[in-house]
Amino acid sequence: MGTLRDLQFALQTKIEELRQRDALIDELELELDSKDDLISQLQGELDRLRELGTQSNPQRTKRQAISAEPTGLDPNQLTHVTLTNYSKSEESRELIQKALLENDFMKHLEASQILTIMDCMYPTTLAQGCCVIQEGDDGSTVYVLEEGSVDVTKGEQKLCTIEPGKVFGELAILYNCTRTATVTALTDIKLWAIDRQGFQTIMMRTGLLKHSNYMEFLRSVPSFKTLTEDVLSKVADVLEETHYSDGDYIIRQGATGDTFFIISEGQVRVTQQKSASEEPVFLSTLSRGDWFGEQALKGSGRNLIFRVIILILTILVKI
Ligand code: CMP
Repeated sequence: MGTLRDLQFALQTKIEELRQRDALIDELELELDSKDDLISQLQGELDRLRELGTQSNPQRTKRQAISAEPTGLDPNQLTHVTLTNYSKSEESRELIQKALLENDFMKHLEASQILTIMDCMYPTTLAQGCCVIQEGDDGSTVYVLEEGSVDVTKGEQKLCTIEPGKVFGELAILYNCTRTATVTALTDIKLWAIDRQGFQTIMMRTGLLKHSNYMEFLRSVPSFKTLTEDVLSKVADVLEETHYSDGDYIIRQGATGDTFFIISEGQVRVTQQKSASEEPVFLSTLSRGDWFGEQALKGSGRNLIFRVIILILTILVKI
């Protein structure tokens, strides 16, 4: 275990790197905002011209936050958004959950998020030939196909046919971009849908609650008592929780370290092997609130910001 001073220094360095990254993101956001404004102006111009001769286009809505983006909101502030549950048969519930878990972009969501998204999905139907999603539009809905099939096309090119049990329309919502392809009903179709607001509320509530739980944990660690709320909050931002079973190795002697660990539950045994022919020697036992792997925080370089993941451990290691 290093000294608290070492840890504070390493944390400050990381925080500075994160601050610089945030500043860069802010700059890029500003640039995007000005581009959005320009697009709005041009769109307005275009609409005005269209009104003169043809039908007008719907106004482009302003770019919204990425759904999983952290926010400074208090978790309680999101409680006013009412999430409505829609009843479903057991088959439909299974179909939706399986579809979400099989989707490359959604399968990493937490089990509770998958369940809540499933509960909030509402049924909708469309006739054969209808355009479900138009490439280039702002996306507002994620779908799971329950019956029928749809074609996915980009420009003139057909990308694929989607059959029941698949998610589509997730990219524009998850990545806050315009629709990447057009989706057309090949038959009459039955869909389950969730709108952007419901989706984002589920993502943010989970993220904020997690952050608040991590803050509570970090505040309870005696060694971190002198760290400011701001520092703790930055740590909580990058904290991830992982579980080890009794007897698992967490770090092997000699391996390159890229993770800093704080123990949340359980105990960890630290041993050292002096040479290949000798048995490992017991050094110490670490428990809740202790940390290790702090060397990982001392490296430098931009990539490290993303590689340094701080983990809360729930370890069941018998000593
Ligand atoms: P989104 O961009 O929101 O709207 C169009 C949807 O089509 C997109 O999300 C994906 O769900 C789907 N899509 C886009 N490209 C492909 C592809 N190459 N294969 C399958 N589905 C796609």
